Amino acid sequence: MPYYLKIGEIPRKHHIWFHRNGEGPGYKNEGIYYEHVVTTEGFNEAFSIMYHLRPPTRVRNVKLLKCEELKKATDSPLRHHHLKTANIPRNGDFYTGRIPILFNQDVVAYRSRPEKAYDKFQYYRNGGADEIIFVFKGGGTLESVFGKQLYRAEDYIVIPRGITYRLVPDNVEEEDYLILESVGPVRIPHRYMNKEGQIKMGSPYSERDLHGPTEPLTIDKDEDTEILVKDGPRWTQVTMAHHPFDVVGWDGYVYPFTFNAQDFEPITGTVHQPPPIHQTFEIRGYVVCTFAPRMLDTHPEAVRIPWVHDNVEADEVLFYVRGNFGSRRGIEPASITLHPRGIPHGPHPGTIMASKNATRTEELAVMFDTQHTLELTEQAVALDDQKYPQSWLE
Ligand SMILES: [Fe+2]
Repeated sequence: MPYYLKIGEIPRKHHIWFHRNGEGPGYKNEGIYYEHVVTTEGFNEAFSIMYHLRPPTRVRNVKLLKCEELKKATDSPLRHHHLKTANIPRNGDFYTGRIPILFNQDVVAYRSRPEKAYDKFQYYRNGGADEIIFVFKGGGTLESVFGKQLYRAEDYIVIPRGITYRLVPDNVEEEDYLILESVGPVRIPHRYMNKEGQIKMGSPYSERDLHGPTEPLTIDKDEDTEILVKDGPRWTQVTMAHHPFDVVGWDGYVYPFTFNAQDFEPITGTVHQPPPIHQTFEIRGYVVCTFAPRMLDTHPEAVRIPWVHDNVEADEVLFYVRGNFGSRRGIEPASITLHPRGIPHGPHPGTIMASKNATRTEELAVMFDTQHTLELTEQAVALDDQKYPQSWLE
């Protein structure tokens, strides 16, 4: 989790009375704010403590909407895949219109090109997984129980599980995301942290590049509010007896934050460096890396694009954002390639020689490498370029 942040008003110690000053409707006029502790890993790891106008436990009703397990496509051999996702028809809203593409026990990758911001529900909570929303295109405001924060194109928006939020886009027709739903918590790679809990110098980003909520969002409303809650395959409608965004202040290490891919400081060498230099997040069962625009290798004899490689113990996925990807042909923005274990992959024919005099690449891509095999959904198979496995032939 990022770093200590404090927004709004909080009492001077944990777990003491926090009296409300002045007038206000308040919950039954008890005259206090209600403490709410949000913890991770069983109270042992990062936590935040927030203060509500009303207890966040005031649930009027819960209703099961559906329970739908992801289905894997079963008619595909082990091979490389190229999914062209730029022109997926716009579909549904922010929460229910997500199209599952790849999944295993640790992560579900979705593409999301919403047709409208909201359908029945404006407010959403993922109770079972942390979400990484990579904003391929778009921008707006993320409103959550922790307050307001802006997001923009090429941001990773990291939303820890259990946080009620809604996205308020500047223009919904622009919004286009890659979403990674993570069963394990999304963390800053351990090797980037010093023993004091600060991001080490020499890491590809610092605390200044991570942005949390900037102001509280305190809505004092006694009306029933519907929240769509997802946990794994189950979707539940939760009716709160008041508006969930009623926090006057909070502090701690757990909150939604953004990191923009353009702020990733690439580490380069005299010869080609391996993918871990691009690592951005660490999650149980997979990693997320950012291939940011960068200077290419400077050794006079350096081959400036990646070597052929086998990911012996990983499935490798790239989501291409922009720029010309030097080692690939036929790839376009919003292409997704899956290079699974068991088959080597590498530069396409002609790209090694073509890169000989290159000094810089403007490519931007998001990579995620998984420990366990990824399954394709039927929606993914429909987007697949059947000829991709032969694209390494001259
Ligand atoms: Fe690779």
